[in-house]
Amino acid sequence: MNSKNWNCTSLKWYLYNTDCIDFLEKHCDKIKVDCIFTSPPYFNKRSYSGKCKEQGNKSSYMYSTSGKPLENEIGYGQTFKDYINSFDKLCQLSSKILKDSCFFIVVINKIRDKKKTIDLADIFTNKAKKYGFDLRDKIIWIKNNPRTSPPNSMPYYLDDCWETILVLSKNNAVIKDRDIFKTNIKYKCDNCNNIKLYSNSSNIIMTNIGFTEKNSTESQHPAKFPITLPDKILPLYCNKGDLVFDPFSGSGSTLISCINNEFNFLGCELNPVFYNNTIDEVNNILNHGKQLHMST
Ligand SMILES: C[S@@+](CC[C@H](N)C(=O)[O-])C[C@H]1O[C@@H](n2cnc3c(N)ncnc32)[C@H](O)[C@@H]1O
Repeated sequence: MNSKNWNCTSLKWYLYNTDCIDFLEKHCDKIKVDCIFTSPPYFNKRSYSGKCKEQGNKSSYMYSTSGKPLENEIGYGQTFKDYINSFDKLCQLSSKILKDSCFFIVVINKIRDKKKTIDLADIFTNKAKKYGFDLRDKIIWIKNNPRTSPPNSMPYYLDDCWETILVLSKNNAVIKDRDIFKTNIKYKCDNCNNIKLYSNSSNIIMTNIGFTEKNSTESQHPAKFPITLPDKILPLYCNKGDLVFDPFSGSGSTLISCINNEFNFLGCELNPVFYNNTIDEVNNILNHGKQLHMST
């Protein structure tokens, strides 16, 4: 298994090019982490191993659904039953690697299948409950620049403009500092016509989608979440110096946020292209003292 680590003052960031389930099975009794922050792969829609089609219109659907799944790849190439079983295994092993009184944070979307919507957030929550997690909060991530629906789904669905961020916890996990969570979302009050602001610690976040952040392109990763998400959420639920685990590191958004916010990091990514891209990106950040800033 390939791996890379970086040391900077007292912080350490580790990235492994491996199947996270296999990694967890081998290490969950030896390693303990202070937080898990992740987004699981989409179901059978995006081949993370295929290259995205380059198209001018960035809001059209442009994922490769050809190409072979990687060995042990979750999502692409699986049956729905196997996909949900992967959630079960992930929750079981996550409950072992996560210390008590800590948070398991999952960015997760819905599936639109023919004429029904499957709420993966609910399914994931039920799996997590089975292994001792409680649902503490649901943060709604509102996308400033959502994709429009593919034409064949338009008669059935509205455009999908938000994703769920599950905040699952074990035992007595507590928020570290709620004042740092700046929501900054305004709304117009229909009764009084005033522009109002949600309270700073409201459970909503509004940002651009990931690949439209500075320095990002969709061809680097087809399902990158914005670094704004971990940048805003991790400091709520973690203390500086905590060890954050991302089993599906992708383009390394959680890792980069850990560099920005002085957390230690441990991550897995199965796809060698994304793993190698992340190494280049992190080397670049560390060599040039460059910090990736939030998009909003
Ligand atoms: C939704 S993406 C994560 C995106 C990431 N949060 C980011 O911002 O770039 C899911 C990732 O999981 C990876 N993956 C799929 N199966 C895996 C497995 N068994 N172990 C580790 N990574 C896996 C995919 O290659 C993909 O990069």
